[in-house]
Amino acid sequence: MQVESHVCVRKWHPTMLTSRIQLLAILLSAVLCCVGSTCAVLSKPPKVSAGPHIAFDNPRFDFGKVKEGVKISHTFKIRNLGDTTLVIEKVLTSCGCTVPTMKVSKIQPGRAEDLVVVLDTSIKQGTVTKEIEVYSNDPAAAKSSVFITATVANLHKDLTAADRLKLFQGKCAVCHWKMGLGLEGEDLFKADCAMCHGDRAQGAVGPALAPRDYNTPAVAAHVKQVTSYGSKKHLSMPGFLEDAGGPLTAKEIESIVKYLAELSAGKKG
Ligand code: HEC
Ligand code: HEC
Repeated sequence: MQVESHVCVRKWHPTMLTSRIQLLAILLSAVLCCVGSTCAVLSKPPKVSAGPHIAFDNPRFDFGKVKEGVKISHTFKIRNLGDTTLVIEKVLTSCGCTVPTMKVSKIQPGRAEDLVVVLDTSIKQGTVTKEIEVYSNDPAAAKSSVFITATVANLHKDLTAADRLKLFQGKCAVCHWKMGLGLEGEDLFKADCAMCHGDRAQGAVGPALAPRDYNTPAVAAHVKQVTSYGSKKHLSMPGFLEDAGGPLTAKEIESIVKYLAELSAGKKG
């Protein structure tokens, strides 16, 4: 929200231009006056509204490129452009990764207070935008929002060949295993496999797993074998079976193979 507007009014008449020097001087001062915020004398004071009136100097902030696994913070200024006390009733975010803090909840007329927002980039990938909702007693803006955006470096960028197989460990597990906990069949495939084999098993980082001829026992057995014990070439494909150090039971793997067979037979939408 724009708080101040700079207006630059100069009264002059062509007859005033007695020399080129004067013309230059006038042009120069006009430029100086209208550029930047130093033009205090000519700037209009902010308009004061009746009652409490919430305003943000800038409701959006972009951190740009940041690392994964760090805490970064930004301070928003909340202003009261009204003529009575602005009360900040609550500040809410939808993600535990975004923590807002305000030391005071009452902002006097003409004053500004800090809203500090800390973003934890752990287990984030790519561009992330979080909304912070600010509830106040401003009758015209009971709820207003500020936004933070960050572009988190991809965790996958510098993985070594050995790292690639650690899908089920540490923070990797959050996306590569835990999302699939308690699921089976199609849902389990979507949680544990789709990121590498495509949403409909059409292939992505890993090869297509459907359609294939799952009626041929060797085809189904091969898919079950590699899913359980991993690829011999081990290009990002570790074994998912418990016995092979993975997170899945034999039954869960069966349910995925069954889903792939149904998908291949056109039985899945
Ligand atoms: C925030 C969720 C998330 C986390 C955390 C995560 N991954 Fe991934 N991973 C994905 C997604 C989604 C893909 C699909 C490809 C892509 O979008 O990069 C993927 C793809 C991969 C691939 C195949 C692509 C390639 O570069 O070969 C490997 C290997 C991989 N992840 C390993 C890991 C490892 C190891 C970790 C832990 C250091 C990890 N991932 C952490 C979501 C995640
Ligand atoms: C991190 C990425 C990644 C994830 C997650 C992943 N795969 Fe793979 N998968 C691959 C890659 C890469 C290959 C190819 C390996 C190779 O070249 O031998 C592969 C190969 C396979 C193969 C062998 C295909 C063939 O033609 O021989 C099967 C079957 C398979 N994956 C099933 C699964 C299933 C089922 C899941 C989920 C439980 C899964 N994969 C999860 C990356 C992944």
